[in-house]
Amino acid sequence: MHGVRTMTDRFFAELRDALADDPEGAQQPAALDNGHPPHGAATHEVPESLAGRLRVMQTGAGLIGQAPTFVKAIAQLPAIAQSEATVLISGETGTGKELAARAIHHSSARAPFPFVALNCGSFPESLMEDELFGHERGAFTDARDQRLGLIAQAERGTLFLDEVGTLTERAQVALLRVLQDKRFRALGSSREQQANVRFVAATNAPLGELVQNGSFRTDVYYRLSVFSIGLPPLRDRTDDILPLARHFLHTYTPPNKPALELSPAAADALLTWSWPGNVRELENAMIRAAHVCETSVVEAEDLGLAQSATNAKPLSNGHTFKALKKLAIERFEREYLSRLMSEQHGNVTRAALVSGKDRRDLGRLLKKHRIDPKRFSGGESPPSRAGTHPVS
Ligand SMILES: Nc1ncnc2c1ncn2[C@@H]1O[C@H](COP(=O)(O)OP(=O)(O)O)[C@@H](O)[C@H]1O
Ligand SMILES: [Mg+2]
Repeated sequence: MHGVRTMTDRFFAELRDALADDPEGAQQPAALDNGHPPHGAATHEVPESLAGRLRVMQTGAGLIGQAPTFVKAIAQLPAIAQSEATVLISGETGTGKELAARAIHHSSARAPFPFVALNCGSFPESLMEDELFGHERGAFTDARDQRLGLIAQAERGTLFLDEVGTLTERAQVALLRVLQDKRFRALGSSREQQANVRFVAATNAPLGELVQNGSFRTDVYYRLSVFSIGLPPLRDRTDDILPLARHFLHTYTPPNKPALELSPAAADALLTWSWPGNVRELENAMIRAAHVCETSVVEAEDLGLAQSATNAKPLSNGHTFKALKKLAIERFEREYLSRLMSEQHGNVTRAALVSGKDRRDLGRLLKKHRIDPKRFSGGESPPSRAGTHPVS
């Protein structure tokens, strides 16, 4: 028991140090577009926010949450960070999978080396091996220069394989070889290289089911999931909604505004919303609220959820069928768009494709609901070759 405590304490102490050095890391949400650091970033100015941050970190690696389902899910993080084994993090979009992966990296011995993220869904199959392994000059027609693959870029660090369930069979086979032998060969090279990376994978598809129905290889699944974490959706951890909301509100309040609080109606609206986009959607709602709210109290309308309009008021209350239908449609649009943009990580072109909508129409709808696609990119990799972002 004592050993576990010590390990946990050391985990958070080391993580605090790592995060203090790395404003982009797991703990600090990104600064706002206006270039001002979020409140709380300059902790020395506001003593109570330091206490706040410390409390936040102690609950688990910058992962805010005390709900039993969540605490249970992240309980293994210290042990995982100490090991070199692969980790599979599953959970719906926006539940904090990447944040958990970064927390593992930042509190592991690999912290001084790169954390490289690859969105497996954003590459055509033909490019996957090139992405992972790189190529030699002249390996194929377009290969004018040598190019390092992600495994080499993440040397001594962590390679985060996001949306691993989207890997094709061929890509899975290629990955299996590295997972098994820790060796790989750049395309067009005769030299085998040692892979010194720790793999952390994430999936929002139920990978176990994909294994059962034969679309994901059992051997790859077992290799990837020596440790396994399942992050619960926000609707199953309602206790955490208000603490998270207040944390985001505090973080994103523009510097020229007073400290903001939630009105009881706003708190109610947050608690009853279903949060299909989970913590990312909540974060976006709070960013928006912090900007649109005109007093020091955030009202339900500032949240842009619009959900109680149709069901909270009695039908006799001056609402015609037409007016209610319009509200219901708007609510559906908002919920759909927020989920769509969340799932597509803010990529409007891909979102248009998936939803079967014309890209311009989709853009107009997003504008109407004041949904900014950029807010959903969440540090995710854009498609194409820029699909990586070495972090440290
Ligand atoms: N428990 C949490 N505490 C604080 N912020 C969180 C938490 N979970 C998620 N977030 C924030 O929500 C956003 C989405 O999280 P992310 O890790 O990208 O989700 P996923 O990879 O599961 O889609 C990020 O900005 C992240 O910092
Ligand atoms: Mg993600």
